[in-house]
Amino acid sequence: MTIRKVGVLGAGLMGSGIAQTAAASGFEVTVVEVSDELVRKGLGGIEKSLAKFAEKGTITPAQKDETMARLRGVTELKELADADIIIEAIIENPDVKRETYQKLDGLCRPETIFASNTSSLSITEMMTATSPERRRRFIGMHFFNPVPLMKLVEVVRTIVTDEAVYEEAVRLGEAFGKTVVRTSDSTGFIVNRLLVPYLLDAIRAFEGGLGSITDIDNAMKLGCGHPMGPLTLSDFVGLDTMYHIANIMFDEFREQRFAPPPLLRRMVLAGMYGRKSGRGFYDYGDPKNPQPVKLI
Ligand code: CAA
Ligand code: NAD
Repeated sequence: MTIRKVGVLGAGLMGSGIAQTAAASGFEVTVVEVSDELVRKGLGGIEKSLAKFAEKGTITPAQKDETMARLRGVTELKELADADIIIEAIIENPDVKRETYQKLDGLCRPETIFASNTSSLSITEMMTATSPERRRRFIGMHFFNPVPLMKLVEVVRTIVTDEAVYEEAVRLGEAFGKTVVRTSDSTGFIVNRLLVPYLLDAIRAFEGGLGSITDIDNAMKLGCGHPMGPLTLSDFVGLDTMYHIANIMFDEFREQRFAPPPLLRRMVLAGMYGRKSGRGFYDYGDPKNPQPVKLI
């Protein structure tokens, strides 16, 4: 494996989890956010998560400190110039991602691998914001929330991906302690192609009066053995992110099952982004005991 230095773009829900996992696996990590405050928030979240693992004895206090010492938080893209791979986890917006990739392409070494953690955007479309040489070194690495606990990464190739680059990314996923599934650049890859219509259907079922928030969640949690009900999981993913994903998948497939339900749009407009903003289908005022919100 030639990868030593990992750059992570974005320190939100996913970027912070990816940065944590990479640093815990022994890599030097530079994570970029748009402000010092968001850098502090991201690194603070990582420290809390590592403290939980240390409390439980999954890692030692020394391993926690060593992991934190391998992490550097910055606000300038140019700090990623010497990274061997950049894993991008910024907002699910194609224009913002393409603009960022264009800038990065000019800043990074020709060998640097670009990997997107997008949930639903086309890797091929993002790749075209970069030079023809870089396009062969552009892949998808799709992690799952919460990254330090979820054991899967989808490694995604396009029709121009260099085979050696793809295999290097597979090895990196394994070095992060994940099980790798191999897939190609099709919107939503494997997991979201199957998961997103289910989550959107649950919102439509609630909107249509099929059951209360709690009953829909309990039905799928206890009836099917899922760790979280679909409305809890939607809050967990982030309703803003869900809304972006639904629009992108609907644009791609033009199938009703990918269309964002009107209630989802209204919740996002009202700033109800789920767990990360404190309110979604549930109110997280007491995070250990979320209460369903009266929505309809
Ligand atoms: N770091 C460290 N520890 C953490 C943690 C984190 N980030 N998050 C949770 N934990 C700990 C908790 O503190 C808890 O510890 P204790 O047992 O000591 O209390 C333990 O993990 C278990 O957590 P919880 O008791 O809160 O709840 P849980 O048993 O339900 O497990 C979960 C949490 C692993 C998240 C589980 O609920 C789960 O698997 N949920 C489904 C998640 C899922 O489906 N993710 C995929 C989303 S889709 C996606 O990511 C793709 C996309 O593109 C949208
Ligand atoms: P988030 O809103 O929690 O975090 C995104 C972060 O990116 C924000 O902190 C924002 O400040 C930062 N950002 C925006 N523009 C930036 C830039 N130019 N440079 C550096 N940072 C920038 O979102 P998230 O849930 O972490 O999602 C990030 C990506 O991961 C999206 O593409 C999403 O589709 C994907 N994803 C999300 C999940 C999930 O469950 N939430 C799972 C897998 C993949």
